Amino acid sequence: MKVLVVGGGGREHAICQALARSPRVTRLFCAPGNAGIAQTAECVPIPATDVEAMVRWAKEHGVEFVMVAPDDPLALGMVDALEAAGIPAFGPRKNAAIIEASKIFSKNLMEKYHIPTARCKICTEEAEALAYVRSRGAPIVVKADGLALGKGVVVAQTVEEAEAAVRDMMGGKKFGEAGARVVIEACMTGPEVTVLAFCDGAHVVPMPSSQDHKRAFDGDQGPNTGGMGAISPSPNYTPEVAKRCMEEIFLPTAAALKAEGRPFQGVLYFGLMLTPDGPKVVEYNARFGDPECQAVLSLLETDLLEILEACRAGTLDKLEIRWKKAAACCLVLASGGYPASYEKGFPISGLEEAGRTAVVFHAGTARNSAGQIVTNGGRVLGVTAVGADLDQAIDGAYGAARCISFSGMHVRTDIGRTGKRP
Ligand code: GLY
Repeated sequence: MKVLVVGGGGREHAICQALARSPRVTRLFCAPGNAGIAQTAECVPIPATDVEAMVRWAKEHGVEFVMVAPDDPLALGMVDALEAAGIPAFGPRKNAAIIEASKIFSKNLMEKYHIPTARCKICTEEAEALAYVRSRGAPIVVKADGLALGKGVVVAQTVEEAEAAVRDMMGGKKFGEAGARVVIEACMTGPEVTVLAFCDGAHVVPMPSSQDHKRAFDGDQGPNTGGMGAISPSPNYTPEVAKRCMEEIFLPTAAALKAEGRPFQGVLYFGLMLTPDGPKVVEYNARFGDPECQAVLSLLETDLLEILEACRAGTLDKLEIRWKKAAACCLVLASGGYPASYEKGFPISGLEEAGRTAVVFHAGTARNSAGQIVTNGGRVLGVTAVGADLDQAIDGAYGAARCISFSGMHVRTDIGRTGKRP
């Protein structure tokens, strides 16, 4: 089968590697891909957001299945467009991907269906948002309604910080129309857990839990990033917590989307906080998380293609999905300065040596005219190791990451070591 993966980061590298293991995949393409993905799949220079060009290319090249991984093309309706052209595609349709594309939609959904989450106010006017922030005090969370490259959430520790976030988003149009409306939320406390779940519109099959580390610096300090590292499973996600999440959050969310005429077929990302009052939803995403995907898929034993097809066919209940009884850790090696400004084009050394004991997923890499692999983004690599337990996985990832260097490289030194651990 000819399969196309849409996207070009570390998550897509992990997806490509998993699909390449399927005996049924005869040709694997990735658009646009990156220098590492090019070692597993044939890269096609089409931007992930160009729906028309993607559909045209897939048709012309006889692609038989497309896996749409990133948020933007899902929100733009790439799955709808591919299916309309007769090409089977994995991922939620536009009307279900809105669960990530609009925070206002997701908050209204949770309120209507009594799904536990933080109390919030939806604001469409800057003055109203500023007044609300002042009346509630800090800490407080300001979220842009729409997609903002993972940068649309500010956890403000002071009222002044919250006011600045409101002004940037609403008045300053920092994220364009995505920030024209905001959600202002109470700050929750407790360990954060990610649960990615395969969904087929009716059934929900959670993957092993994971934990992302969103802040740029050690000790969960500094600005929010797309994610500086992930572990799987999360030691805080006990069987009791998992049962509550399934009953109070996962199944009600899938049922709510179905009841609204928006059945969700794809990977539903539950960003959870284990608060003293029980698990609550911090955010939904309509896709695999990055870098959670790199850690979680490293534990998958079942053929990923079979699972993706079952999601699309509504037959997840007929499939047994097997996972390694092990743990995984993905460390992000980032460009100095990320998530603000950073330089690109620095040669990367040590990839081969690191690859002997871990899997090095490429996120922001390219090949220069001399054929060298160079940095080409904020998050550059995701060094991922599997171990019998979390400590072994973490040690394995750090050991391999020490082989790699590039100018300005930044790595957190405490991935998997923060947060409550029993
Ligand atoms: N790691 C967070 C995300 O993928 O949104």
